[in-house]
Amino acid sequence: MDAFTFHNPTKIVFGKDCVAQLEQDLAKYGQNVLLTYGGGSIKRNGIYDDVMAQLKAAGKNVIELSGIMSNPRTEKVQEGADLCREHKIDFILAVGGGSVIDCSKFIAAVAKTEPGYDWWEHMFMKRENVTDALPFGVVLTMSATGSEMNNRGVVTNWESQKKMGGYGDALFPQFSYLDPVYTYSMPHNQMINGICDMLSHLMEQYFSLPETNNLSDALIEAAFKNIMANAAVAIKNPEDYEARSNLMWGATLALNGIMGLGKKQDWMAHQIEHALSAFYDIPHGAGLAIVHPMLLRYIYKDHLPRFVRFAKNVWGLSEDEYANEATLALAGIDALRAYFKSIGAPTTLTEVGIPAEALPKIAEKSNRYPTSYTNFTTEDILAIYQSAL
Ligand code: NZQ
Ligand code: ZN
Repeated sequence: MDAFTFHNPTKIVFGKDCVAQLEQDLAKYGQNVLLTYGGGSIKRNGIYDDVMAQLKAAGKNVIELSGIMSNPRTEKVQEGADLCREHKIDFILAVGGGSVIDCSKFIAAVAKTEPGYDWWEHMFMKRENVTDALPFGVVLTMSATGSEMNNRGVVTNWESQKKMGGYGDALFPQFSYLDPVYTYSMPHNQMINGICDMLSHLMEQYFSLPETNNLSDALIEAAFKNIMANAAVAIKNPEDYEARSNLMWGATLALNGIMGLGKKQDWMAHQIEHALSAFYDIPHGAGLAIVHPMLLRYIYKDHLPRFVRFAKNVWGLSEDEYANEATLALAGIDALRAYFKSIGAPTTLTEVGIPAEALPKIAEKSNRYPTSYTNFTTEDILAIYQSAL
């Protein structure tokens, strides 16, 4: 294993009706709370009422910021930060999925800067460590990103068509409340997007050096299979509590830092996907279902033993049935793509309305950096996109 430092201060409160305890955590923070949420699903499914009852019981002054869009944009972060300054906000409570949480993380950070500070440049383009932010907590409504227990966030600058990740020591939630019942009302396609996202997070960590028999690799294989097994149950019965529980915790674990310990990690499929979202505003998980298998197809020959292990340990394929290691490795990747298709995720760019002629400019905008596996050029990224048409 490579050397590592692991630190994760987020308190997790998990289980049915756990939000009934929220008041106790809210009591630790100041009087003025900014409640952030998305397009209104929390008003339709009753989560808003549960949370408001807790805020009321804790005697908070509540200011609301609604309308946080999927793939949250810089303007929304700025709007929230301005509200924090205007109302002297002490604490932010984010109620939603990854988009609401990510936007809230950067609202918390930008609120601590001087007005006019070029936070996009510093926090996203230069990726400076964010070390100061208002404290914030989360009530999670969607199993997908892991943002509820990590210190990252992704924001889109629509003007420059860049979707970028930022991070920082101050960007861990103080607490996150995870009630699996809250995910029952997720639209079917969002459940599928979330499943693709969590599996992609596991693969970003699995397909990287070192490739020795690292505990992280074994944990990832187990989590991968557990997520697929529980996804099958939740797809049939969206109100299966055990399946929803495992998916919710599986998504959190997939990106709370633990799974990749001792590994370099890759994250290039995410960069390639973010560029698509920055131009076509497609859901993150859907974009990953399209590009991640094709990225793996592009590189598998350079890392055959790892891909053979994936084919055998995750997909149960046997070397006896394949002519050589390369065909076995490829069969594992094809099984992944077939799996995404079988659960109803898109697996081609055409399905999400992205035409061939748009690809060169998207490839040009995609972030790229050398990883332990790859050092893609713009031409490589374009070739991956073209293979996904
Ligand atoms: O807007 P609302 O009304 O909240 O509805 C949302 C939204 O339309 C809906 N939804 C969520 N929970 C629901 C529900 N509808 C009914 N019932 C519920 N219980 O689902 C839609 C999608 O929500 P969104 O938050 O956009 O999805 P997700 O959690 O997948 O977040 C995606 C964002 O997170 C970023 C992505 O890039 C994208 O911008 N990511 C963040 C990461 C991180 N911070 O660590 C890592 C990821 O790789 C990812 O990049
Ligand atoms: Zn992701």
